[in-house]
Amino acid sequence: MKLEGKTAFVTGGRGGIGRAIVARFLNEGATVYSADLGEGGSLDRNDDDGSRFVRLDVTREDECIAAMDRVRDEAGRLDVLVNAAGIEIEKTIEETTLEEWNRSFAVNVTGMFLTSTKTADSETLQPAPK
Ligand SMILES: NC(=O)c1ccc[n+]([C@@H]2O[C@H](COP(=O)([O-])OP(=O)(O)OC[C@H]3O[C@@H](n4cnc5c(N)ncnc54)[C@H](O)[C@@H]3O)[C@@H](O)[C@H]2O)c1
Repeated sequence: MKLEGKTAFVTGGRGGIGRAIVARFLNEGATVYSADLGEGGSLDRNDDDGSRFVRLDVTREDECIAAMDRVRDEAGRLDVLVNAAGIEIEKTIEETTLEEWNRSFAVNVTGMFLTSTKTADSETLQPAPK
């Protein structure tokens, strides 16, 4: 078990990629926080796999701070952050509205910035192994 004693935080944890990463990390013995939008995410499943669900919209700074506060209070450390939350615009550029374009940047770019910086701000963040 390569991740025993480690804590991981996975955004988009109920999506296809995020869910697979959560499962693999759990299998390797990590404590895993699976963060996603409130109701089900893209796949409507319960977190009966042993991960700790965090209701999080990655575009919300206050929610990112609250999520990191929870990790600090419960686990006391964070070793791995995975930014797997994301959305895709399944339209041509001509069909895409400015609102949709801005939303994709908010989730895919600003969301990653927020989770990464709030993790780095957190006193729980562990140094990378040498
Ligand atoms: N699956 C692929 O082959 C592939 C390839 C290249 C890129 N991607 C990109 O990688 C990302 C993840 O892919 P996937 O297949 O797991 O997608 P997915 O749709 O299955 O999962 C994405 C997850 O992100 C969550 N999410 C969306 N907005 C969020 C927000 N504001 N806050 C928190 N969570 C949010 C969704 O609820 C969902 O559970 C997507 O951006 C996708 O476009 C996927």
